[in-house]
Amino acid sequence: MDRAEGAGVGTRAEAGVGGVVSLRSPGRGCAVELAGVTQRFVKDGGRQVFTALRDVSLQVRAGEFVSLVGPSGCGKSSLLWIVAGLVRPSAGQVEVLGKPVSGVSREVGIIIQQDALLPWRDARENVALPLRFRGMSKREARARADDWLNRVGLKGFESSYPHQLSGGMRKRVAIAATLAFEPKVLLLDEPFSALDVQTRNLMENDLLDLWTGSGQSVLFITHDLEEAVGLSDRVVVMTASPGTVLADHKVDLARPRDLLEDRRHMDFIRVYSQIWDGLRREVMQAHHHDTARRPVSGGAN
Ligand SMILES: Nc1ncnc2c1ncn2[C@@H]1O[C@H](COP(=O)(O)OP(=O)(O)OP(=O)(O)O)[C@@H](O)[C@H]1O
Ligand SMILES: [Mg+2]
Repeated sequence: MDRAEGAGVGTRAEAGVGGVVSLRSPGRGCAVELAGVTQRFVKDGGRQVFTALRDVSLQVRAGEFVSLVGPSGCGKSSLLWIVAGLVRPSAGQVEVLGKPVSGVSREVGIIIQQDALLPWRDARENVALPLRFRGMSKREARARADDWLNRVGLKGFESSYPHQLSGGMRKRVAIAATLAFEPKVLLLDEPFSALDVQTRNLMENDLLDLWTGSGQSVLFITHDLEEAVGLSDRVVVMTASPGTVLADHKVDLARPRDLLEDRRHMDFIRVYSQIWDGLRREVMQAHHHDTARRPVSGGAN
């Protein structure tokens, strides 16, 4: 096995996670629980401390699909990396499946915001390698990879390299690679944001199909409120930076859902409008803040 490939996530986790983060009284039946999580970053070579997350408390119950929405820069990705055990928070407590987070876990799958496929490996190998790292034989890993590539609609593309695939197909490979080891907790950071609307809609429905009956608990980040409402049991809204939880909305729409159809129904529009009222204020605030900080003319580069 290639050493460089194995090092990626592990090295980051070891560097970022210094110890055990524990909750005093864990919530029952919680897949993910954060209590009073604050994240500070040092900026300007140590001259400034920036607070990205402030006192975030959040729960994802077992088997629940929860979306996290909030303005750009409010700390959504930072929060996901903390839950994945890739980064240790400055303060607060984090538990996954009832255990304090102390590093990356086999039971947690994460799809990060950036494209994370290995360009020098074909689709099959991209899905099979994480399984190999978990001790599966080469033969078994390849068979499981082919099965998952088939399930995400990529039969016939097993030997294609990432540069030979479209953006949507690459995301499908990333989803297959994460689902293939059947994590109990799935963390997804804007997995469909770079895709065209039609592909996105198809993939949202496919994700729902794959999740239904899996028992997996999902924390899903998106900028698209329609997507959040369509997929989720709950939508958690974060404030502008420093991010904290502004509101937690239950989405009481029946399942199974058809995302293309449901969007036109009054119940969907009612839930969407309620959530958007709060989110809009935060998006505007973040926008005004960014605009005020921007140089008036010719500043950059
Ligand atoms: N390692 C880091 N060092 C310094 N600052 C950081 C670091 N990681 C994130 N930040 C800062 O923390 C804030 C939150 O970043 P984060 O990527 O979590 O936001 P986000 O809500 O995911 O944004 P987007 O919606 O644009 O993806 C940003 O201001 C970012 O610059
Ligand atoms: Mg992000």
